[in-house]
Amino acid sequence: MLVGGQGVRLRPLTLSAPKPMLPTAGVPFLRHLLSRIRAIGIEHVVLGTSYKAEVFEEHFGDGADLGLHIEYVVESEPLDTAGAIRNVADRLSCDDVVVFNGDILSGVDLQGLLDEHRSSAADVTLHLVEVDEPHRFGCVPTDADGRVTAFLEKTDAPPVNQINAGCYVFRREVIESIPADRPVSVERETFPGLLAAGARVQGHVDSSYWLDMGTPAAFVRGSADLVLGNAPSGALPGPTGRALVLGDAEIAEGAEVTGGSTIGAGSVVESGAKVSGSVLFEGVRIGPGAVVERSVVGAGAVIGEDAVLSGAVIGDGAHVGGCCELLDGVRVWPEVDLPPNGVRFSAS
Ligand code: GTP
Repeated sequence: MLVGGQGVRLRPLTLSAPKPMLPTAGVPFLRHLLSRIRAIGIEHVVLGTSYKAEVFEEHFGDGADLGLHIEYVVESEPLDTAGAIRNVADRLSCDDVVVFNGDILSGVDLQGLLDEHRSSAADVTLHLVEVDEPHRFGCVPTDADGRVTAFLEKTDAPPVNQINAGCYVFRREVIESIPADRPVSVERETFPGLLAAGARVQGHVDSSYWLDMGTPAAFVRGSADLVLGNAPSGALPGPTGRALVLGDAEIAEGAEVTGGSTIGAGSVVESGAKVSGSVLFEGVRIGPGAVVERSVVGAGAVIGEDAVLSGAVIGDGAHVGGCCELLDGVRVWPEVDLPPNGVRFSAS
């Protein structure tokens, strides 16, 4: 499992925790992924870590409480995706190795992916997902047998709507052939190199739920989809539905919490406030009459009376003064204090 990225697109949330450890529907994101892995019978997981490497072991330990045996390999310098896979080669205990990006929420049929890898005798099998806006991604065409024919860069007119979904099965020898001890990218170097060398690269197309949680907008959507039951997980920490309210969080009378929002332990949503499709980490206070939609509010942050957050990211411990409006992708860094002067910021 690749969990070493810096999560730049999710800053400032990733200043204090690596992306796969951000609380998502009440638990670190990685727990949702690990629960799905365990459910298909995988027991041995190796985490390739780099950025904030120690946080993973502190939380998951040896993995026994998840029914897993988890090992950790730390890169002294980030090795990029294929470099990270190569770097754990000596820990792998089987011939077919499933590799996961640690920031993808997906309902892919993992057994189906493995079965296709074996029945096609592939060197590598990629999960490919069909998307509505393929021009936003590089695309991956396949032939009638499901064999990948090219890895194409982003273009305005992609020939297919299949993209690399960030989950692969590798034959172990292929991993051993990746150059060691230098950064290598799976998408830019390893996969095109395998095609050029005539290797069998298979595409497993699957249209079930799929989301790359790498941006703030995707992060809140994924968390809400988990709470609403639209995305699969065996790791939800409590009863879900319109919202997930954790621990001793308080929702005042007359406040509304909807749209798959998660309210972290120790948080308070005061009277008349409306929170929808949002994630509040621990110990957050939402003032009376405030509106919070599609936003992430970091631990200990305080949102003042009648403030409006829409598509905003508020860092840990920040204070947003009353009547401020923060819209469309505005990010507030940790501990920043915005005075209650009713300012309006929009990132668009
Ligand atoms: P951004 O900085 O926002 O692009 O995020 P990212 O680098 O964390 O994620 P990206 O989507 O680029 O990477 C895909 C997956 O590979 C994520 O799960 C990352 O954690 C992981 N990853 C990226 N680079 C490295 C690396 O150098 N080492 C390891 N071990 N994992 C990596």
